[in-house]
Amino acid sequence: MCGIIGYVGNRNALPILIEGLKRLEYRGYDSAGVAVLNSGKIILQKSAGRISALEHVISEFGPDKLNARAGIAHTRWATHGAPNDINAHPHASGDGSIAVVHNGIIENYSALRTYLKQKGVSFTSDTDTETIAHLIALHYKDNLEAAVRAALQDVQGTYGIVAVCAKEPGTLVAARNGSPLIIGVGRDEYVIASDAAAILEHTSQVIYMEDNEIARITADGFRTTTLDAVPVTKDVEEVEWTLDQIELGGHEYFMEKEIFEQPKVLETCLRGRLDLRDHCIHLGGIVDCARELVRAQRVVLTGCGTAWHAALVGEYLLEDLARIPAETDYASEFRYRNPIIDAGTVVIVVSQSGETSDTLAALQEAKQRGAMVLGVVNVVGSSIARETDHGIYLHVGPETGVASTKAFTGQVTVLTLLTLYLARRRHMSQRSMNNYVTALGRIPGQIDAILEQNASVRTIAERYMDQNNWLYLGRGYNYPVALEGALKLKEISYIHAEGLPAAEMKHGPIALIHEGMPVVFIATKGTQYGKIISNVEEVRSRGGHVIAVATEGDRDIAELAEHVIYVPDTLEPLQPLLTTIPLQLLAFHAAVARGCNVDKPRNLAKSVTVE
Ligand code: AGP
Repeated sequence: MCGIIGYVGNRNALPILIEGLKRLEYRGYDSAGVAVLNSGKIILQKSAGRISALEHVISEFGPDKLNARAGIAHTRWATHGAPNDINAHPHASGDGSIAVVHNGIIENYSALRTYLKQKGVSFTSDTDTETIAHLIALHYKDNLEAAVRAALQDVQGTYGIVAVCAKEPGTLVAARNGSPLIIGVGRDEYVIASDAAAILEHTSQVIYMEDNEIARITADGFRTTTLDAVPVTKDVEEVEWTLDQIELGGHEYFMEKEIFEQPKVLETCLRGRLDLRDHCIHLGGIVDCARELVRAQRVVLTGCGTAWHAALVGEYLLEDLARIPAETDYASEFRYRNPIIDAGTVVIVVSQSGETSDTLAALQEAKQRGAMVLGVVNVVGSSIARETDHGIYLHVGPETGVASTKAFTGQVTVLTLLTLYLARRRHMSQRSMNNYVTALGRIPGQIDAILEQNASVRTIAERYMDQNNWLYLGRGYNYPVALEGALKLKEISYIHAEGLPAAEMKHGPIALIHEGMPVVFIATKGTQYGKIISNVEEVRSRGGHVIAVATEGDRDIAELAEHVIYVPDTLEPLQPLLTTIPLQLLAFHAAVARGCNVDKPRNLAKSVTVE
């Protein structure tokens, strides 16, 4: 949820920490702070708001004036305590000799506060994290690593922390339990951070910390042990993403960049997997478990937010094309609802970041109950990727915009590949397979054609940007797309929107329809086209303004809808990959027109690593 970073080496730490924070800002932007070690003291500065506000605060120091070789920094998504200067991280011990940055939630912080107050500690903030700084100070003798280890014995909850101590100027101590931490291995320097985005400009050599691990890091090297002081040998791995992939690349917003790079990245996602010559699918990541998958009695797909919407498309695909009983569960519900998992049940966890706390816990719950767990994940080396038995990466590159776009089409593409792989091994004819493989191969080019309508979609969005209630309606495969379209609009433009199966409208929501209300219909040609046209009529007759996503060449719908956005024709099960694109653009342009911060919408963060 928050973004944390630490640096130790021979270069000036402050500019490295500030630049690193900017790369992590999509993880939380309520406040920011930095603490560097200089002349035996910890210099700590923090402020509410964006990194730019912190830069203003520290400008009096200026990177060149403060020659620190080690430090830590933090950008916050508030959980405990309002987003203000006091609650901003880093948090320090009473005498200021220990400072800590933290990502996660300390569940027993209230008990720890009481205990520490009895020890004479006074608190300055409302945060859970401050307890860690005081606990470390309480245990500190002359060894920061030992003090952190002792302090964490009393801590319950999730954390990724990095601590510094004025008495050990060249040392960082990091610990992980439930929140991601990666150590970037440079030449005589280390950058430790919540994700690779803040490390890539320094090195592509990384070490992934696991739960219950502590690392002591100096410029000369690092040592990792478990919380119980058992040494752990770590492998250095290569991050496959490049620096330019995490740059804006000439776009004003990452969301815009990520919408427009979908044709290219879906080609990468399909490369080596979609065999257009032999009309078959290759999925190296599931070869070892293919037999079990083909024989699966039941598939449960789970995830959160946009990933849940992709999972719902996956459910429709698996039942319709592979004829495997499938269901979709919100990860936050699945993990607590005592789900029935029996032999033959396969659980598919879907996640862009691979760090979403509810999805990670759902995965662990499924494994505990004996299910085989398959991951559909974007971030290589993420916790979910490392904990699943088998997996398929999206290969759509880093996604920085908080509103997920290319990851959604990447997730749906992977679930389509998986479905076709299984369907062909269960009952699908080669002839039918040929049709699907050919159609799937056309998708990237067809998305390109849709993106050419960007300007006309912007006009529609600007026309309705002041309307505070929108409805999104779809049937069959396009019902999850309606949900996804509504979510995109909600999360970046703050307009209230609801996605529904179109037929459900008559059972209540139709009461919302008023003169001029924008109602988005995904009304492409297919088995339920006639039905959805009746739903369009129902909305029109109550004054709703219909914005229709329709199949190229459909002239009839133009008679019924105020606005039509055409998408190329494709096989019905593949339509979500096309019909989603106009909805991404609609939300993007409505948010820009309303002056919203599209990449960092209020109250949100890119990966939700707390419950
Ligand atoms: C989508 O735009 C949101 N950012 C959010 O709903 C997201 O999909 C959800 O938090 C799941 O994230 P994940 O795919 O990284 O697990």
